[in-house]
Amino acid sequence: MRKKIVAGNWKMNTNLQEGVALAKDVNEALKGIAPKCDVVVCVPFTHLASVNAVIDSTKLGLGAENCADQKSGAYTGEVSASMVASTGATYVILGHSERRQYYGETSAILKEKLGLALENNLTPIFCIGEVLEERDNNTHFDVVKAQIEEALFELSAEDFGKIILAYEPVWAIGTGKTATDDQAEEMHAFIRSVIAAKYGDAVAEETSILYGGSCKPSNAAQLFAKPNVDGGLIGGASLKAADFMGIVTAF
Ligand code: PGA
Repeated sequence: MRKKIVAGNWKMNTNLQEGVALAKDVNEALKGIAPKCDVVVCVPFTHLASVNAVIDSTKLGLGAENCADQKSGAYTGEVSASMVASTGATYVILGHSERRQYYGETSAILKEKLGLALENNLTPIFCIGEVLEERDNNTHFDVVKAQIEEALFELSAEDFGKIILAYEPVWAIGTGKTATDDQAEEMHAFIRSVIAAKYGDAVAEETSILYGGSCKPSNAAQLFAKPNVDGGLIGGASLKAADFMGIVTAF
C-alpha cells in the first residue's frame, strides 16, 4: 500500500536557532505517539545539518526545499543534491510553484534537478498545480498533466516509483483558501489516471500524492479522508509544532 505522508515546508522562515527549536518540538511531540503517516520537515539549507543532529530519523524525516540543477563547480550560491544528502537529509522538494514563479524554474531545469536528486538517493517531493486563471479557464487538468509529462515522463518506472507528488493549487497556497476535499480528490484521481496511462496501474497505485495549499488542523482530516489524497505538504501550519502535529494526527 502506498505511503501516507505529512511533510512540512518551512520556506524562508525561522533563523537557525528558531528552526532547531521547532524541529526539537516536533521531534518531542512524535515521541509519545505512533502516527499513521510518515512525518517529514523540509527546512532551509542552512538548518539541515543542525536539525538532523536533534531529530530521531526513525520518526521524523528531513528534507531540503530545493537543490541545484548542476552536480558541482562554479555555480556561486547554489547547493547541490549531494551537499543536501551529506547533511543527512533524505528528501527534497522540487518544482514548488514559488520556485517556478519567482526563480523561473522550467520543466527542463526540473528534470536536471530530479535526476541529480535521485542519483543522490534523495526522495523528490515534486510539486504541480495550476494558477487561479487556469482553473477559471477550465485548463487546470491540462496544465497539471503537462507539468507531469514534461518533467517526469522520461523517468524509468523504477525511478518514477521513488517520487512523491504534491498537488498544490497555486491559488490555495498561503491564501487561507483551501481546495475543497472534492476538488482535491478530483485532481488527485486525475493525476493517478495520468500516471496509470504511462506507467500502469501498479505504479499509479503505489504513488503517494500529497495535497498542499492552506492545509491546517481544521481541514486536514476531511482532505485526508479522500481515497486519492495521501497526505499533505504543509507551509504556514508547519511553523508551529502544535498545528503541524494537529495535521499529522488527522490521519
Ligand atoms: P501553505 O503552503 O500551507 O502555507 O498554503 C503550502 C506550500 O506551499 O507548500
